[in-house]
Amino acid sequence: MDINKNISLNIELLKHYINHKVLKTMQTKVDSVNKSLQNGACPGNDYLGWMDLPFHINQEELDKLLKVADEIKNNADYLICIGIGGSYLGAKATIEFLSSPFKKEKILFLGHHLGSDYIADMLDYVKSKNIYVNVISKSGTTTEPGIAFRIILDKMKSWFDDPKKIKQRIIATTDKQRGVLRELADAEGYRTFIIPDNVGGRFSVLTPVGLLPIAAMGYDVNALIEGAKSIARLCKENNSVLDNPVLTYAVSRYLLYQHGKKIEVLSSFDPALQYIGEWWKQLYGESEGKEGTGVFPAGTIFTTDLHSIGQYIQDGERILFETFLNIAQTVKNVKIPDTNENRDGLNYLAGMELAEVNYQAYRGTALAHYSGGVPNMTITLPEKNEYYLGQLFYFFEYAVAISGLLLGINPFNQPGVEAYKQNMFALLGRPGYEDLRKNLLSS
Ligand code: PA5
Repeated sequence: MDINKNISLNIELLKHYINHKVLKTMQTKVDSVNKSLQNGACPGNDYLGWMDLPFHINQEELDKLLKVADEIKNNADYLICIGIGGSYLGAKATIEFLSSPFKKEKILFLGHHLGSDYIADMLDYVKSKNIYVNVISKSGTTTEPGIAFRIILDKMKSWFDDPKKIKQRIIATTDKQRGVLRELADAEGYRTFIIPDNVGGRFSVLTPVGLLPIAAMGYDVNALIEGAKSIARLCKENNSVLDNPVLTYAVSRYLLYQHGKKIEVLSSFDPALQYIGEWWKQLYGESEGKEGTGVFPAGTIFTTDLHSIGQYIQDGERILFETFLNIAQTVKNVKIPDTNENRDGLNYLAGMELAEVNYQAYRGTALAHYSGGVPNMTITLPEKNEYYLGQLFYFFEYAVAISGLLLGINPFNQPGVEAYKQNMFALLGRPGYEDLRKNLLSS
């Protein structure tokens, strides 16, 4: 890995919508929101702990975390991670990004939905296995992981004869003082890791929320932190809309939104990036989508989706812009073989690396979408590793803070998530929700 290389952004195919001159006109506005972010004076400023997180990771806490990660690595058949939203997607995305799809990682995820068959099948699958459980919830009160933890704990009581064995295998990641998970962990004597008060769920991948599962799967969390640190430094030092790609990206998507481009499609040509797309959708959807505004984040994996939703992108309603996420260097090379007969007519590709074919598919797609009225830009990671992933995480976090503030909203809350919860509690008969229940049942 060459740490002099960095994540980069190419905005060539935004031309006719956005160019350097237009970007420059945004500098004063960006200076103002950037300053309010850096000085902690923006809306939601009690949730800015993510900004300095890469610089302030406590070495003693990290050593403790790495020790527990080693214990899991050495003893567990499976680590079951229980969590939803920001307490799930960072670890899931990282592990999917770094591992081979054919290597069965020793991690299973639970509590990110209420699917009955999924939970029943998992319980059946792990019942005779040596499991560790990492239950992750900042609030400690979220229903989906709460139910999943209750179910698994109940099963563990029948699987393990000695309560000490259960205690040894449960690690809780939660708030340092508040929430039922904290109370439960303290009462039962589980080992715990703390999610800082001032870091919101979707910005928490560099806290124990993400770091413990990622380290337990054997990935290099120090490199992840270093990568994030390099972009955090860049954002502290460089406030130029033209020269800092994080700001260029944030401002471009803001301006495209003003042009009526209401949907951003994050498109990639490597299936390893699928869950990075899911993480990004959560980060952008929850941060920006409020008060009747915000770009809607969607995701595709090409070339697969060029044979499905690609039709809409090329030819449907012109409300889209696209951000391609590319990796410059593949880890492994595959050459296309030559044949004497050339019955499939593919000999014109013989001897070519598959990565080159994929790259030309990307170029062809970017140009086609641009001429079809979908302006697009490209973020490129030099390689697929922890360091550049750390850069990408911080890149997207900082950019959504800027674009959210440009929209005039608080990017760090998620009031809209409450609506379904209230209705669900009422419909399930939770005490205190009687009036709402009556209203819902009569409507
Ligand atoms: O980004 C967020 O704040 C949310 O997506 C939360 O991460 C999610 O709702 C889970 O919350 P908690 O960790 O409190 O269980």
